[in-house]
Amino acid sequence: MIKVTHNGMVAPLCPRGVSQEAFDSELDKMQSGLAALQELRKSGEVGFLDLPTSLNDAHRSVQTAEALRKHSTTLVVLGIGGSSLGGQALLDGCDAGRGSHRVVFFDNVDPSTIKSGFADLNANECSIAVVTKSGGTLETAAQFIFAYEWLVAAVGEANAKERIVFVTDPEQGALRALGQQMGVAMLDVPPSIGGRFSVLTPVGLLPAAFAGVDVHALMSGAQSMAEAVTENAPSNPAFILASSSLLGVEHCAASSLVFMPYSDRLRTLGAWFVQLWAESLGKKLSRDGSREVRVGQTPVQAIGATDQHAQVQLFVEGPQDKMVWLLGLETHPDDIVLSTENADLRNSSAHGWLLGKTFGQILESERRATRAALLEAGLPVIDVSITEVNAATMGALFILLEATTALAGIAMDINPFDQPGVEAGKVMALGLLGREDCLEHAKRVLTAEGVV
Ligand code: PA5
Repeated sequence: MIKVTHNGMVAPLCPRGVSQEAFDSELDKMQSGLAALQELRKSGEVGFLDLPTSLNDAHRSVQTAEALRKHSTTLVVLGIGGSSLGGQALLDGCDAGRGSHRVVFFDNVDPSTIKSGFADLNANECSIAVVTKSGGTLETAAQFIFAYEWLVAAVGEANAKERIVFVTDPEQGALRALGQQMGVAMLDVPPSIGGRFSVLTPVGLLPAAFAGVDVHALMSGAQSMAEAVTENAPSNPAFILASSSLLGVEHCAASSLVFMPYSDRLRTLGAWFVQLWAESLGKKLSRDGSREVRVGQTPVQAIGATDQHAQVQLFVEGPQDKMVWLLGLETHPDDIVLSTENADLRNSSAHGWLLGKTFGQILESERRATRAALLEAGLPVIDVSITEVNAATMGALFILLEATTALAGIAMDINPFDQPGVEAGKVMALGLLGREDCLEHAKRVLTAEGVV
């Protein structure tokens, strides 16, 4: 379903690349990283690789989605970061929500988006999913207060409660407690799954099932990839991706990693990957906290062919501090052949020669040409070839990229599963807004503004 190749990172094909021996030796080192990941998995600390086989939450998500579909045609999903991006990427990848039931995500607190977004919805046709692992995220809490009032005003409190689902930690957090008090339906985010690794929990599965995604195909694709990424072999696709990043940083000065799918349906996957890579690998301290390491490779989201008319100029001629993962599709089931009977178009030098070609063919030629241009410019390129974008390949891509991130983090000797760097801004914002237990932190904002 998905094939990863690294010859675009190896000299002489890539003039600034590494030797095959160096790549092989990095792949060898991945074996101990995988052993460490399997230990974390066994101890119950890290659970994302087990999601495709422990299907209780998936079944519950499908059942809950079916119940909601009876009341509503739109699911409004509230959440932020890992509690939103996975669902968005999954639905876009599956081209979901074009049928009778659709999903709308709100992942910010910009009043203008909230106002216009909700104004476009008919509350009588909506259900609401509140997604927050911790249960206490500021943005999601504010969104829910607004959305609750909006729904109750239209359908009344009793009906509203039938249309609300909380997706949160099974025991901890304010949302779990609130859900128990309000008596609304709740789905679990397992304790061993952090936000950005949670797309295959009810976080992504509830919206997916609501929008009609084939959850069975999604999870089987994820399962076959879970087997591939736990194989102790140099062909393990997560070994190749993680090794490419580590070697890219160390030997090719690639402080940035460009994630560039040639598929519009994978555009949101790019946004999800950027969050996964940045929040997991951008770390100050070593895993045991004893050393300052200051590591991380900046992820850059690009899209082919659109970015050939934008960022590619910088990639090719700007600082040689980047490497590129190019994602291409083997087949485009919706491909379109160009044809016209119009004589002016047929005789036009810019148009006539294109007749008989397909959009898929053009996109693929552009991908291959850009790959060559990037290599000529000395940028290391890794190729990810995907048979086609569907539920099964989306499941596989999520597991592949999560396993890659985990392996890279373990090899870097950091903790890829926490995010202490976002805490400071969080508590200062809460302090500014007057939350009793964070008032102290508001002073830090005033200091930064030169007020005190
Ligand atoms: O990946 C993560 O852990 C974060 O991006 C969280 O998903 C994000 O901060 C939202 O957290 P929560 O799900 O607790 O509301």
